Amino acid sequence: MYINENFIKLPQSYLFSTVANKLKEYRESHPEADLIRMDIGDVTLPIAPCVIKAMHGAVDDMAAAETFHGYGPEQGYPFLREAIAKHDYQERGIDIPANDIFISDGAKSDLGNLGNIYSKKSVIGVADPGYPVYVDSSVMDGRGGELLSDGRWSRILYMECKPENGFKPAVPSQGVDILFLCSPCNPTGTVFTREELKDWVEYAHRNKTLIIFDSAYEAFITDPDIPRSIYEIEGAKEVAIEVRSFSKTAGFTGLRCGYTVVPSELKGMDREGNEYPLRQLWNRRQSTKFNGASYIIQRGAEALYSPEGRKAIKENIGVYLSNARYIREALEKAGFSVFGGDNSPYVWAKWPGEDDSWRLFERILSEAEVSSTPGIGFGESGAGYVRFTGFNTTENTHKAMERISRINFNKGNDLEEDFTTLNDVKAIKALDELDVLDDLTEALGI
Ligand code: MLT
Repeated sequence: MYINENFIKLPQSYLFSTVANKLKEYRESHPEADLIRMDIGDVTLPIAPCVIKAMHGAVDDMAAAETFHGYGPEQGYPFLREAIAKHDYQERGIDIPANDIFISDGAKSDLGNLGNIYSKKSVIGVADPGYPVYVDSSVMDGRGGELLSDGRWSRILYMECKPENGFKPAVPSQGVDILFLCSPCNPTGTVFTREELKDWVEYAHRNKTLIIFDSAYEAFITDPDIPRSIYEIEGAKEVAIEVRSFSKTAGFTGLRCGYTVVPSELKGMDREGNEYPLRQLWNRRQSTKFNGASYIIQRGAEALYSPEGRKAIKENIGVYLSNARYIREALEKAGFSVFGGDNSPYVWAKWPGEDDSWRLFERILSEAEVSSTPGIGFGESGAGYVRFTGFNTTENTHKAMERISRINFNKGNDLEEDFTTLNDVKAIKALDELDVLDDLTEALGI
């Protein structure tokens, strides 16, 4: 058999797997390390008691013939689709019916799987930096073209985000078929204003573009003027699919549940120009390749819309947002240039003068035992940056920032080559056998 050769064009490992492997190696070589994880956006607070209770109830349903559930609807159970339509949309003045909502096992799967319903020839537009699933899954489906020497793909349009444009992509002059937009943005933590989203919706109408709007982090928006859904913008239902997740909102990273809205107004064309509702194609895709999210998990997600569930979500998000704010302020104070951390759990930071994300990552790992995600992993425009998450505990967040603030980033690079870690230095200190000890500890700021 022949393989899908697009896979061999891709870098060997997915960004977060590469980081996880580096951390594994670090742990193996430093078994005593007190590592604080601020890399992948994985939550730490436990699931709300009302969700646990609902899931226990659902487990009990499975134990009796009268309440047992086998295959569920591939689109999701009506009880959850209706709760989402009512609370996430209709109560906020957005007319999205339950029928346009498709429950899944998470945003990441849907973002990748949506590629099944648009043409292989589609030209993709992404913000650079951006969530790597947009590019990697497009490449897997054959939409990348060739990997260029600058690390970009020949058939993908990259919309550069830099400090000069506040790390927000500008509407391109050229049209694309599929446009991935994310707000609050992973990884930079920036958000689109209503005016900016209007420009994107107009662009999509003008160019017959499908926007895939990733709003996995919408629950972190506290500013009432910032849109939480693209459907707050008039005309968006004709041009946009919205993808959401319970992972960061409600701690479901390990439970797996999200949803995608495909409005019935949204149409695509065949080569002859005949129009087809995308909802119909997505429904066909899901009912063929997906057997629905677990009944137990969907019952848990439903409980999030109860008064207790909503209160718990608000409290958890409040903790993560206050961690992110703390990170932002601590890094600014330490001299980093910083974005995000406001309406978002992510903080995007650069040490002035350091243009290598992996070196900054290594330095923070070895000298503070804090992990981050190298910004270059999100695209070439992420070079020099690292991303921190507010998802750790408050205690660890404070500890991590305290450790980072003690790193002397302006010194020590010459010594780093030989003595790269806090533990190396600790070991040398214990042996007390090198004359350079004082220089070394001063250089590493410990
Ligand atoms: C992230 O850290 O960007 C996300 O948690 C990764 C993911 O959701 O796949």
